[in-house]
Amino acid sequence: MKFSLTTAIDYTNGAPHIGHAYEKVLADAIARYHRLKGDDVFFLTGVDQHGQKVQQSAQKQGVAPSEFVAGITAKFLALWKTLDISCDAWAATVEPVHKHCVQAMLQLLWDTGHFYKSKQAGYYSVRQEQFLTDKERGPDGEFGPEWGEVVLIEEENYFFKLAAHRQWLLDLIDVRSAAGTPFVVPDFRVAELRNAVEKLSGDLCISRPKSRLEWGIELPFDKDFVTYVWFDALSNYVSFAGYDPTPGADNSLFHSRWPALHVIGKDIMVPPHGIYWPIMLKACGFADADIPTLLVHGWWNIAGSKMSKSEGNIVDPAVLAETFGVAATRYYLLSDIATGRDSDFSEERLILRYNTDLANSLGNLLNRTLSMAKRYRSGILKKSDSPLAAFVAEKCAAYSRRMDAFEVHAAIESTWEIIVRCNAYVEESAPWKLAKDPASAEKLDEVLYSLAEALRVVSILITPIIPESAAAIRSQLQWDGPLSIARCEWGLLADGHQLGDPVPVFPRIERE
Ligand code: MSP
Repeated sequence: MKFSLTTAIDYTNGAPHIGHAYEKVLADAIARYHRLKGDDVFFLTGVDQHGQKVQQSAQKQGVAPSEFVAGITAKFLALWKTLDISCDAWAATVEPVHKHCVQAMLQLLWDTGHFYKSKQAGYYSVRQEQFLTDKERGPDGEFGPEWGEVVLIEEENYFFKLAAHRQWLLDLIDVRSAAGTPFVVPDFRVAELRNAVEKLSGDLCISRPKSRLEWGIELPFDKDFVTYVWFDALSNYVSFAGYDPTPGADNSLFHSRWPALHVIGKDIMVPPHGIYWPIMLKACGFADADIPTLLVHGWWNIAGSKMSKSEGNIVDPAVLAETFGVAATRYYLLSDIATGRDSDFSEERLILRYNTDLANSLGNLLNRTLSMAKRYRSGILKKSDSPLAAFVAEKCAAYSRRMDAFEVHAAIESTWEIIVRCNAYVEESAPWKLAKDPASAEKLDEVLYSLAEALRVVSILITPIIPESAAAIRSQLQWDGPLSIARCEWGLLADGHQLGDPVPVFPRIERE
């Protein structure tokens, strides 16, 4: 089966933070799981490099926008490499292939009558270079000092006939939900989106006059304008998947990678991904079956409030990975938040979860299993029946159901139930006693085989979560068979299998 997924592309107007890292790691875990299932995965992520904010940040630093975005893009790329993000393609919106696609989409929509030119009048903040709406008014009804001088201006722009597709989108949302393949996951977001679509009345301004924004993609039919950054950014999902809107173009590669699952944060569901994007695709001629699915995740907050530059509470994931390691960082970001919900970031929690789940539970299990096997049997296993086999199979099934539903945190819980069960099994069966009694030799073989086999299965299950540690465990088990979910099947360690020596994979984090 094909399985395509994308993440939001990150703005290059500031450095990456843990919110960005969470989304990439979440998508990466899902992508890796689908590779384990044998799916043909296409995983796209990237950076959103155009727009007003970037132009302003570049100006402040006195560098060209292209130079500015190149610097920040390099930081994102380095971070994704550090965090083992296994993307198959990289979307950087300054790329010519993207510009070509966006311009062809704009031209197609212009030629087919989806755009019109019109005068827009409204309050405009000169300092922030943007139109203001009533949302920006303070409690006293005035625009606050942060907006600087506010003037009433009139400007010509191009508009996309968005509202014309309101009913189509409502129907799509309902049909998809009824069919059990909702447009938005988790379920509770569907109502939120539906309400927003119900209220949709206006059209979307898709242009910006170059007189106020130059750092963007030029409208192919009017060189005095660039396109609105969201039109540009959303299109990355198709432009970097090989879509060519030119009439008659060969789109077979694109169709092999489409439709995709879009992994995005809750702040960008309404309106861009939930309203603009499906309508843009529909207007470009996409069939309903080719409208993607949105996986909407929640936010990492700091002590209950939003992370922001002005609060000075931004957590840098590169520093986390450097200080605590990649496994600790990935494991924490994936296990301590329920997909769709918010969570509070805390370094103490990260350390606690690492020490408890990785160093103590899993690390100890691996260490004691390999040590005992070495001490009592020179590391050689005797294939036996196991009292753990059924339990492990049941947890593997739960893991798959949960991963299929993108509930990565819950799939991790299923995995740790195996680990916890194994540790209890060690205590119950007390191999150190069995080893003293020749009559218990068979029982000892059964315990050692069961533990090694469970660890082998666990090493597959944690591959999407902490791939490097999973590989390290397999290497100590000396099991290098092909990796797949199907190979979680019990009993694949052969009779006479030789285990390796124990080497700590998860050294405890000690904090003074
Ligand atoms: N550039 C747009 C997306 C364009 S997609 C065609 C954008 N960029 S962003 O850098 O602001 O955010 C990128 C992603 O990170 C978004 O999905 C956003 O929801 C997510 N997060 C930003 N802050 C976050 C947290 N504090 N926690 C979790 N995710 C958060 O929006």
